[in-house]
Amino acid sequence: MTVTIVGAQLGDEGKGGIVDLFGEPADVVARYQGGDNAGHTVVHEGVEYKLSLVPSGAVRGKIGVLGNGCVVNPRTLFDELDTLADRDLDPDVRVARRAHVIFPYHRVLDGIEEDVKSETDDEVGTTGRGIGPTYEDKAGRRGLRIGDLTDEDVLRRKLEYVVPQKRALAEDVYGVDVGEEFDIDALFEEYREYGERLADEDMLVNAGDFLAERLDAGDNVIFEGAQGTLIDIDHGNYPYVTSSNPTAGGAATGTGLGPDVIGGGEIIGIVKAYLSRVGSGPMPTELAGVEGDTPGYEGNAGEREEALATEIREAGGEYGTVTGRPRRVGWLDMPILRHATRASGFSGLAVNHIDTLAGFDELKIGHSYTLDGEELLTIPATTEEWGHCEPNLRTFEGWDDADWEAVAADGYDALPANAQTYLDYISDELDTPIYAVGVGPGREQSVVRERPFE
Ligand code: IMP
Repeated sequence: MTVTIVGAQLGDEGKGGIVDLFGEPADVVARYQGGDNAGHTVVHEGVEYKLSLVPSGAVRGKIGVLGNGCVVNPRTLFDELDTLADRDLDPDVRVARRAHVIFPYHRVLDGIEEDVKSETDDEVGTTGRGIGPTYEDKAGRRGLRIGDLTDEDVLRRKLEYVVPQKRALAEDVYGVDVGEEFDIDALFEEYREYGERLADEDMLVNAGDFLAERLDAGDNVIFEGAQGTLIDIDHGNYPYVTSSNPTAGGAATGTGLGPDVIGGGEIIGIVKAYLSRVGSGPMPTELAGVEGDTPGYEGNAGEREEALATEIREAGGEYGTVTGRPRRVGWLDMPILRHATRASGFSGLAVNHIDTLAGFDELKIGHSYTLDGEELLTIPATTEEWGHCEPNLRTFEGWDDADWEAVAADGYDALPANAQTYLDYISDELDTPIYAVGVGPGREQSVVRERPFE
């Protein structure tokens, strides 16, 4: 059977922990979108690995697949594989021949466009990994696919077509001098070798065929969505989005399996019990604000709200992993979750960070919005309208800190009664059962009600 894991909010919901928790019986972990813009830390036998392409399950002996919907930077892929090999780990990673290749010029162009947009404060805040420019080339039918790296004639012909266009874009449109990232011969040599290595190491697959065979043979497969619903290119907060579909439909188009396969399995929405956001854009339930990120922030949210925001930020560790920048925090936002539940058809939920919210007298949840005098239960389609939404907050009684490991061991009924009320409200509003509740960062710090593979 299959289990698809999707972030229900803005990324950073704790998807990795849930893949770990539910993934034990899985034989294959497949990614269906995105590239090395995702990041996860895997601890294996006491050693910590930071990975962005190799699925974490592959370090634990499962087959990792990068599906056709992914964009793959072979430099990153082989860097990660070589680092793991240095530690005597030899993960079995397969790459779809139909996946698109991120070239060095994509990264350069990603950076140039962000710089230009930043002059008018319009930058997206991308990860700079060349994700958007690579998907642009895919849609523009000028991209190179992983399978092209194994055919020298095709590789050279395609590079000769596309690289001069990219060079002209950088130099003539943006006025930027470029280097060997745009050198056809250098690119040909380096990427031809990647093609050879992919073939020699038997890493190339037709993803749909490969996965269908494994499912026919009775394997369990996890589809691991990266990023989150509100960063989806179609269903997210455009243009502050990534260039792929993290929502569950992406698991079909991004692997070559039918929607019946994805929908016939479980689709789990991962929810953080409050909301956090990196960078700019609307956030109606935001508690206080972060200078430089919150639109129109003037530090005037009021002492109580500022204190609450700081407390949740500290307790939840809501600081950028790379930059250390504070993330924006706010109350749980139900319009976002209704939108995500509809877009992906969640069959179950995992709600993380219930321990982070412990110790408050009361908590709020954004039940709906008011826009132009009307109540909205889900988010409006334009970012501008979303920015004008006022949240209608409901108040919930708080719960005390607890021995969370004991709670995890004893099950759902051991959760504080007010936490259960909070969780039951979410489940009822979304008409979706809660399969797991995160009460701490470790795998054993989860209350499990339902294991989707069992
Ligand atoms: P890109 O995916 O690098 O093009 O970045 C586009 C947007 O998606 C930016 O706002 C990024 O911060 C966001 N983003 C990309 N990957 C992740 C992720 O793994 N977690 C959270 N946000 C992400």
